[in-house]
Amino acid sequence: MKILGIETSCDETAAAVVELKNNCVSVQSNIVSSQINIHKKYGGVVPEVAAREHVNTILPVINKALKKAKISRDNAEKKLSAIAVATGPGLITSLIVGIETAKTLAFVWQLPLLSVDHINGHIFANFINFSYKKIKFPCMALTVSGGHTKLLLLKNIYKHQTVGETRDDAAGEAFDKAAQLLGLGYPGGPAIALCANKINSQNSKLKKQLPRPMINDENFDFSFSGLKTALRYDLVKDKDWQKNKPLYAQEFQQAVVDVLIKKTIKAAKKYQVKSILLAGGVAANIELRKQLHQQAQKNGFSFYMPDLAYTTDNAAMIAAAGCFLAKEKKFTPWQKLTVNTNS
Ligand code: KG4
Ligand code: ZN
Repeated sequence: MKILGIETSCDETAAAVVELKNNCVSVQSNIVSSQINIHKKYGGVVPEVAAREHVNTILPVINKALKKAKISRDNAEKKLSAIAVATGPGLITSLIVGIETAKTLAFVWQLPLLSVDHINGHIFANFINFSYKKIKFPCMALTVSGGHTKLLLLKNIYKHQTVGETRDDAAGEAFDKAAQLLGLGYPGGPAIALCANKINSQNSKLKKQLPRPMINDENFDFSFSGLKTALRYDLVKDKDWQKNKPLYAQEFQQAVVDVLIKKTIKAAKKYQVKSILLAGGVAANIELRKQLHQQAQKNGFSFYMPDLAYTTDNAAMIAAAGCFLAKEKKFTPWQKLTVNTNS
């Protein structure tokens, strides 16, 4: 089964073709056109600008994805089984561009449509190049992106239950805002990680630690806006903060990582899962990958994380999620395919 995936929920215009064969999703093509250079000067994504850019880019990106997968537009209906598109959550005007394009192509090629939840898509990035039969359920999934921070209990591949989420900023959003305070540019996650890596001595630490919000609370929710404010006040008080930038970057990164890991392990124990899975753009953070892996193993859980190439927004993950919807024949008629505002 071959699926064309389309993703336009934020500032990446993406298309991919994947194939589900022998319980494993393989990627035939994965094209991502990023708008980072356009939004950089504003310090974040401008929704109206993002949507207009998606309109310009979506067809060339789809053409490239089909070409790389050796599928001609003239006989795509013979090679593809369905079209999967991210329908939410995300920027509404951006999502509409992907959705309307998917509907038009489905009409032209007479192919069925699959409506994919963006966060689900991030989870299914873990099933690329990895047999889903190997995943041990129940599984606790930590999904961390620019818009969401959620702990999801996966009872099986299709059944997910939210057990905790952020009450304010998402983890990625916190990285982006902290990077802005430190003058490190956008997107903030990779910039903070890079800056933290500049520390020469292992023993260098800030005299005063940043807080770890809600780390010992009984619930599995998160809060990151206070952490960002704490960083802001510490920078105001420190005349030498420019010199100590890598130390602040490292401390901020570690504060986020500490909270994410402690709560994930606690939730994994409480819900007696067999495994832990990491997903979302912040899953590109090397310290989070390394430290969560270590803690999961130490506590007896199997651990899964996506290849770095499929952590930040891409369409291969949307197409991968689409494969599993198609397997269950969960198609959406084109008249009903619309932005999902409930997710
Ligand atoms: O999933 P994603 O690509 O887009 C959304 O669905 O939001 O996640 C983007 C977020 C951004 O906030 C970005 O700063 C963060 O992921 N991110 C990282 C890293 N790479 C991307 N955060 C921490 N460390 C990274 N290496
Ligand atoms: Zn995302």
